[in-house]
Amino acid sequence: MKFFLDTADLNEIRQAVSLGILDGVTTNPTLIRKAGARDFHEHIRQICELVPGDVSAEVTAVDYEGMLREARQLAKIHERVVVKIPLIPEGIRAIKTLSEEGVRTNCTLCFSATQALVAAKAGATYISPFVGRLDDISSEGMTLIGQVVQIYRNYDFRTQVLAASLRHPMHVLDAALVGADVATMPFPVMMQLLKHPLTDIGLERFLKDWEAYLQAQKSAGA
Ligand code: G3P
Repeated sequence: MKFFLDTADLNEIRQAVSLGILDGVTTNPTLIRKAGARDFHEHIRQICELVPGDVSAEVTAVDYEGMLREARQLAKIHERVVVKIPLIPEGIRAIKTLSEEGVRTNCTLCFSATQALVAAKAGATYISPFVGRLDDISSEGMTLIGQVVQIYRNYDFRTQVLAASLRHPMHVLDAALVGADVATMPFPVMMQLLKHPLTDIGLERFLKDWEAYLQAQKSAGA
């Protein structure tokens, strides 16, 4: 499973890179605004310089020609930029055209398996089903991930399932159990993945016992 960070915050990205487990980054207009990026394209370029893998940057046009124009500009920023395009009819048209041009895309704002089927047929590189936002309206967001993984396997689609809108470690666990290719998550969630109180308690005990052992050795004149 690839771990992507769902943020445009350069400090969070630097911290995750230092862990050695980061495979990529996803951004969107909300995250760009939250990060206070002064220049969108320059900010995406900086992220690409920090991250070893793909970096998603989203178009804001909603018409076919506008999406193509923005996508081609975003793709020129860096070879690892993946263009994020919303799953609307004009977006599907744009994904089809861009995939034929060799521009890699991340089809976003996916909320149903039929939408994901359409995106794969259009040649999207990634599909981003939003788990948390479905959970928010009392739907089973993770069920969607399982459906999309199954459908893509049935027909050998190459589109990668990028589980998005993940809010806690159980989302990452469940996405891994159903076989998502990628989990994109907020930085705090990534840090929670490796935390366990029994690990901390056990380490504290080991160190305490080792200190006692050293003291006993010292007393025995060892
Ligand atoms: O990449 C999509 C993600 O940023 C949406 O997350 O928590 O706003 O639903 P959320």
